[in-house]
Amino acid sequence: MRFSSVCEPVRTLALFKTNVLTSICFANTKERLGGMVMSRFTLPRDVYHGKGAMENLKSLKGSKAIIVTGGGSMKRNGFLQQAQEYLEEAGMEVKVLDGVEPDPSVTTVMNGAQVMLEFEPDWIVAMGGGSPIDAAKAMWIKYEYPECTFEDMCKVFGIPELRKKAHFCAIPSTSGTATEVTAFSIITDYDKGIKYPIADFEITPDVAIVDAALAETMPQKLTAHTGMDAITHAIEAYVSTANCDYTDALAIHAIEMIQGDLVNSYNGDMEARDRMHNAQCLAGMAFSNALLGIVHSMAHKTGAVFADFGAHIIHGAANAMYLPKVIAFNAKDETAKKRYGVIADYMKLGGESDDEKVELLIEYLRGMNDKLNIPHCIASYGADSYPTEKGFVPEEVFLERLPEIAKNAIGDACTGSNPRIPTQEEMEKLLKACYYDTDVDF
Ligand SMILES: [Fe+2]
Repeated sequence: MRFSSVCEPVRTLALFKTNVLTSICFANTKERLGGMVMSRFTLPRDVYHGKGAMENLKSLKGSKAIIVTGGGSMKRNGFLQQAQEYLEEAGMEVKVLDGVEPDPSVTTVMNGAQVMLEFEPDWIVAMGGGSPIDAAKAMWIKYEYPECTFEDMCKVFGIPELRKKAHFCAIPSTSGTATEVTAFSIITDYDKGIKYPIADFEITPDVAIVDAALAETMPQKLTAHTGMDAITHAIEAYVSTANCDYTDALAIHAIEMIQGDLVNSYNGDMEARDRMHNAQCLAGMAFSNALLGIVHSMAHKTGAVFADFGAHIIHGAANAMYLPKVIAFNAKDETAKKRYGVIADYMKLGGESDDEKVELLIEYLRGMNDKLNIPHCIASYGADSYPTEKGFVPEEVFLERLPEIAKNAIGDACTGSNPRIPTQEEMEKLLKACYYDTDVDF
């Protein structure tokens, strides 16, 4: 496949969307394209950043804006009211849709879309943690295409053209998911106990406002989990089979920043907290275009599956626990091992051979978990997410559900860009290592 003439942009773009991106997701792109690599790199048109950046809401042009937000922290801290005032100053009629729950459900998405269909906004402004922004992205699809079902939305890179009715602005209050700049949204189907990623550059927001003032209000635990989510994004993007020069630069710089700032941010250093807000956004720019790997596949499929035992394995904590195990597994692939070595070099971890560098990287990440009070494995993951003697997931329940979880994790949209594609048996062994905190030597 090649660009044969400048007269073919439409055809090329169509081929690109239907073929190339699907290839990126589900197979090694270079092989699929016979050695020629053609990739797309998409970001929001505008990223406003720095403290006070939210004021840029005044510059949006439109007549009606709906603000989608979560449980109340944006209201308590005055940010919701401030956003509303800025939008009114821009001459817009504003409606607030609040109460989006953590790990938003399909029902929340469908109900929210109904509110949008009645109000008819031309701007959707989503503010808060990853949950309200992700929910708002899915509502946006349903608002533009009311006949679209949740199953339709889950077709990877299969979403029809948006922006016929509204544009999208995202304002994150947590420093991790980077959903303000990504082509992804995670929605939970509670009937199945599974988190589904919706993936398409159509849902990459038009405007991202990365205002550190919002991140300063994060509680300590959230700072830890979202920060480890961000470093997982950067590391998975760097070793992804869909990496490229554009994403590498962002991923490496994000890793260096997070190494320097996350623990200090967790311990209350607000300058470090401000920098983390940018670092997580850079990691998001990287993974939105380079995609992720099986740390995320496993986190998606274990997150809500033990909810009947009273808790979720929180996304960032799941990533933090699984990342060292997956690095050991992926490092059996020579290209991935070299890339982990490069990461270790940038982090100045020492080591002579790539094997040593991989070991040092794993040790360093486990040390970060200790400093952030995150357990090393599911067996010691308490219902409050802190390390405990006996975690909330009983061993026999884990083992009983293991084959199904492993199957679902292999089928997750993030698996296709992982440097090693695990078999059912390998995925089960990997998940067991994540349960018992045992070594990965396979
Ligand atoms: Fe994530």
